[in-house]
Amino acid sequence: MRKEYSPKPLDIYNLSPDPFTQFGFWFSEAEEQLIANPSELSEANAMVLSTATKDGIPSSRMVLLKCFSPDGFVFFTNYNSRKGEEIDENKMVSLLFFWHNSMRQVRIEGAATKISMTESDLYFNSRPRESQASSALSLQSKTLDNKQKFDSDVNHLATTGKPIKRPENWGGYVVTPYYFEFWQGGIGRSHDRIIYSIDTNSSEKHWNMLRLYP
Ligand SMILES: Cc1cc2nc3c(=O)[nH]c(=O)nc-3n(C[C@H](O)[C@H](O)[C@H](O)COP(=O)(O)O)c2cc1C
Repeated sequence: MRKEYSPKPLDIYNLSPDPFTQFGFWFSEAEEQLIANPSELSEANAMVLSTATKDGIPSSRMVLLKCFSPDGFVFFTNYNSRKGEEIDENKMVSLLFFWHNSMRQVRIEGAATKISMTESDLYFNSRPRESQASSALSLQSKTLDNKQKFDSDVNHLATTGKPIKRPENWGGYVVTPYYFEFWQGGIGRSHDRIIYSIDTNSSEKHWNMLRLYP
């Protein structure tokens, strides 16, 4: 199962000084790679979100990145889910992307906060009715005793034809990063790791870049 990784060595001087721009380059390449070589990991925007309780008990799950900008990385979920409850008590989270075709990993650490209700409405209203109905009726992460009834309620709501309103407990979070790591698998296991961390001595938001041992 040992795989030789593609030789695209990283150098601090080849990377953008802005981690969001650098993320954009890799994200576009991951999408192109997936179109060229579809694999079981077929969503470049699938990411592992890790949260922790206030006592530091961690938990991880996949979510979909919906957009990113210098303001941060946005995903949508149920605010009353386990992840939502954990973010309520501890806003520090991490995101992890793994792009198998290009042998790349990006680690992001930051603080998660809710986006505005208007932005959440905008996204909710763009979703297919089936997804809207499911989000409106799902008590995500709570015990479900009757799956058949839930499915039939979702189906009923989805087919009523009436507009489905975003429930207040469903919406987006934006993760504002203070740390990035870009990892590139290399030949002979000589992998590259470049980190970006915020320079706290600078009055402007400035990113310090460093290389780590693989
Ligand atoms: C590829 C993939 C993408 C997913 N995307 C989302 C998502 O964007 N939002 C979400 O709430 N759950 C998503 N899920 C489901 C979550 O992994 C998880 O089961 C759910 O959010 C409940 O997590 P929690 O109990 O830790 O809150 C996704 C699962 C997979 C496998």
